[in-house]
Amino acid sequence: MRLTCLVEDSSGTANPGMSISKAAGNFLAEHGLSILVETDRGKKVLLDTGTSERAFLNNIGLIGLRPKDIDLVFISHGHYDHLGALPLLLREGVPVHTHPLTFHGRRFFGTPSSKRDIGPSAELIALLKENPPVCDDRPRELVTGVSTTGEIARSTDFEVPANFLIERGGVISQDLIQEEQAICISTRRGPLVLTGCGHPGVVNILTQVRSRSDGEIFMLAGGFHLWKAGPDVLQRTVEGVKGVGVEKVAPMHCTGFEATKMFSDRFPGFVLMGTGCSMEI
Ligand SMILES: [Fe+2]
Ligand SMILES: [Fe+2]
Repeated sequence: MRLTCLVEDSSGTANPGMSISKAAGNFLAEHGLSILVETDRGKKVLLDTGTSERAFLNNIGLIGLRPKDIDLVFISHGHYDHLGALPLLLREGVPVHTHPLTFHGRRFFGTPSSKRDIGPSAELIALLKENPPVCDDRPRELVTGVSTTGEIARSTDFEVPANFLIERGGVISQDLIQEEQAICISTRRGPLVLTGCGHPGVVNILTQVRSRSDGEIFMLAGGFHLWKAGPDVLQRTVEGVKGVGVEKVAPMHCTGFEATKMFSDRFPGFVLMGTGCSMEI
């Protein structure tokens, strides 16, 4: 199994000590996330698509693939920085899987009086009407060995999404980003969990995966959404992740520098994986 970070906020470098390789060429980094999973049976599953078609197309080309080589794309949640190249993939006929609420309502960041749109583009909404995604809020096997977590139960009191708003039927309310699901990959060393932004909280996500697995979780990789978190939330999150137990952590995207530093200090299995980096598992 091979994981490749196709799009992420930082540019990555090869690191043989962390088993990280990187193809030659000028990868484009941007605020967003897209991770490619290539299974041992040759299936290619994409988690999210980054923010722009330009970065996605450039980067997938550098690893020798075309968008139509993707078997299916799973969309973790309905924010623009995960949806950028989805129109391109829809035009290529790639099947899309997501939660039933991902494209319901308008998404904003900010306050009711000062907010910016962070939802899908009008072009994407129109394309989705012609090519509706497969929607499920329960755990679902996407291809052999790669499943969704299903909707995440929120049990911690420190992992509540802040500053996100949703407009449904003309009414604006706090958006808890209920739709966000993660991906769970079976490996010989235990489950590998991939998160989009981690808005439901990485402790909640890991707790849910752990409740359904026999052994310890092998790895947590993706966005942990801690870039605005204060010291107390950071501390409780790191303790929570330690409490559930994971061998490796690869914070990306919206995790933020402070949190990434804290994970690198506290986890011997810390992995730094930026744009263009691949890891063979
Ligand atoms: Fe994000
Ligand atoms: Fe997000």
